[in-house]
Amino acid sequence: MADPTPGNPTAGQAEVLRFDDVHLAFGQTVVLRDLSFALHRGETLVLLGVTGTGKTTLLKLALGLLKPDRGRITVLGTDITELEEEELFPLRAQLGIVFQEMALFDSLSVHENVAYRLIEETVHGGKDYSDEEIERRVRECLRFVGLEEAIWKLPAELSGGMQRRVGLARALITEPPILLYDSPTAGLDPVTAQTILTLIIKLRDTRQAGALYVTHRLQDAFILANNCYDSQNEALKPVGGDGRGQPCGPTRFLLLRDASIYFVGSPADLVSARDPYVQRFLA
Ligand SMILES: Nc1ncnc2c1ncn2[C@@H]1O[C@H](COP(=O)(O)OP(=O)(O)O)[C@@H](O)[C@H]1O
Ligand SMILES: [Mg+2]
Repeated sequence: MADPTPGNPTAGQAEVLRFDDVHLAFGQTVVLRDLSFALHRGETLVLLGVTGTGKTTLLKLALGLLKPDRGRITVLGTDITELEEEELFPLRAQLGIVFQEMALFDSLSVHENVAYRLIEETVHGGKDYSDEEIERRVRECLRFVGLEEAIWKLPAELSGGMQRRVGLARALITEPPILLYDSPTAGLDPVTAQTILTLIIKLRDTRQAGALYVTHRLQDAFILANNCYDSQNEALKPVGGDGRGQPCGPTRFLLLRDASIYFVGSPADLVSARDPYVQRFLA
């Protein structure tokens, strides 16, 4: 199927998420008007737009938490628009979510917080994970975010930045090929924000997860676009540095305005766009 999003450098990579002419209004207010785009493995689509342009709504549609008035949303080849809640359940495990407002459960240990979706799958999804399997996977996710030693702690014993890293580990427990981020660095100090961005880039470049990344912080978007994860040094390196090592997942920007995609393109396209609205947005 042809990619409905122009300017796509990842044509040929497997498509993980697709919107076709998705339309949604709340009452009289049209929030998304016949929106189409596709997301591929390893690719990050950065969703930009002023407050109220429908960025969070778009993520909720991808999760099947909201239904469009018309149009089609396809997750890993399955049209989710007509699915019932119980049919959506196994598909949701394919989407990891890191939302700013999603706090950890205070009374549960880090282990229980990270394991949460596996336990839910055992209860609702007909899966049957042993305790050993759960602990092994929880440890693996915590190791990914550098917090294995915190496994038996309570959230209150961790700093805000560590809690956010646990939130990321929780999103990874089902090994989702798609990640949805809604302002994951909001409210963090610059050092912690950089740690979270490094983990997000690591996830992109070592596991080829496709991501929708909502942010108000343009600097975050350019860090994502301009850096690769260097596994040898466990650090970021600039895109196109020495041309060796792992491939970097490409980044595209998608700017929403008046319920539509106003601009879509590479970071270079965005920076060089002459359009006055885009220029004001970047200023
Ligand atoms: N459940 C809802 N009921 C009615 N209006 C909503 C609902 N959710 C969002 N909206 C409205 O839809 C628009 C887009 O909201 P949202 O997706 O949260 O924007 P963004 O995340 O870009 O700031 C806003 O005008 C908001 O008030
Ligand atoms: Mg929002």
